[in-house]
Amino acid sequence: MAGRILVTGATGLLGRRVFRRAAAAGYAVVGTYFVRSTSAADEWLDIRDRAAVRDTVQRVRPDAVVHTATGRDRNDWRTIADGAANVAVAAAAAGVRLVHVSSDAVFSGRDTYYDETALPDPVNRYGAAKAAAETAVRAVAPDAAVVRTSLILGDDGGSPHERLTHGLVSGRNDGALFTDDIRKPIYVNDLADALLELAANDYRGVLNVAGTDPISRYDLGVLVAVRDGLDPASIPAARSAELDPSRPTDVQLRLDRAESVLRTRLRGAHEFMAP
Ligand SMILES: NC(=O)c1ccc[n+]([C@@H]2O[C@H](COP(=O)([O-])OP(=O)(O)OC[C@H]3O[C@@H](n4cnc5c(N)ncnc54)[C@H](OP(=O)(O)O)[C@@H]3O)[C@@H](O)[C@H]2O)c1
Repeated sequence: MAGRILVTGATGLLGRRVFRRAAAAGYAVVGTYFVRSTSAADEWLDIRDRAAVRDTVQRVRPDAVVHTATGRDRNDWRTIADGAANVAVAAAAAGVRLVHVSSDAVFSGRDTYYDETALPDPVNRYGAAKAAAETAVRAVAPDAAVVRTSLILGDDGGSPHERLTHGLVSGRNDGALFTDDIRKPIYVNDLADALLELAANDYRGVLNVAGTDPISRYDLGVLVAVRDGLDPASIPAARSAELDPSRPTDVQLRLDRAESVLRTRLRGAHEFMAP
């Protein structure tokens, strides 16, 4: 089924790919940008402005909104939390399907394994803003899909983790990758396809959508280095728990429900990062 999709944040790591794959699947796609316009994402929108979001949704008249926009700064509460509420209000007022993107950052890591019933217990400002966004979306647009995802990896060097790994290997960046910081990274194409699938069905509530492999940030960096022909031995390693005990270390989203709800196959990092 094709139709019209509005992608917020269509210049971002995820939004770019959602835009491209939606267009390839036959959707009419309108993509919004905030600072960096592109020929694809040519609709300016500041999601902090509730009236502007409402006007955009009313003018574009999409069948679904895929909300990927997020603050350029991870502490930007007005964009991450209030902006998500504004998008939900606009979608609900127009009776439009909403797919909202959330994060495993809503969790502290205290419980390690999280299914869709797990309640947020964020330990930093970004996680708190993402948790507030979830609450607003579920209150205002209870039929929306709220997708909790993990580290997003690309295939073109564009993700923060790929850039950081390259920077550490070349010496451009200081720091290290954590050996005890475990996530379930997802390939950007898999996530984009899952979001588009959800845009076209009526799944409501939280859904975990992540990759199948739990892996440390350090081991993920090794996969990036091997794929890109760099020397993995030159990646500095550190333990997160020693540097900052309040950081979430082991956060693993359970995928049982996604595997029964979605046709999109969610690959693990060892598969999608293979050279
Ligand atoms: N990246 C990850 O590893 C990761 C992990 C878990 C969850 N997530 C979630 O996945 C989603 C996508 O993340 P991402 O990494 O693709 O983000 P990103 O690359 O940082 O892109 C952010 C997008 O939001 C737009 N934006 C920023 N401020 C805005 C505002 N005030 N109004 C409207 N648009 C605004 C940006 O537009 P301009 O480019 O024009 O400034 C850009 O298109 C987010 O919900 C994020 O929390 C990401």
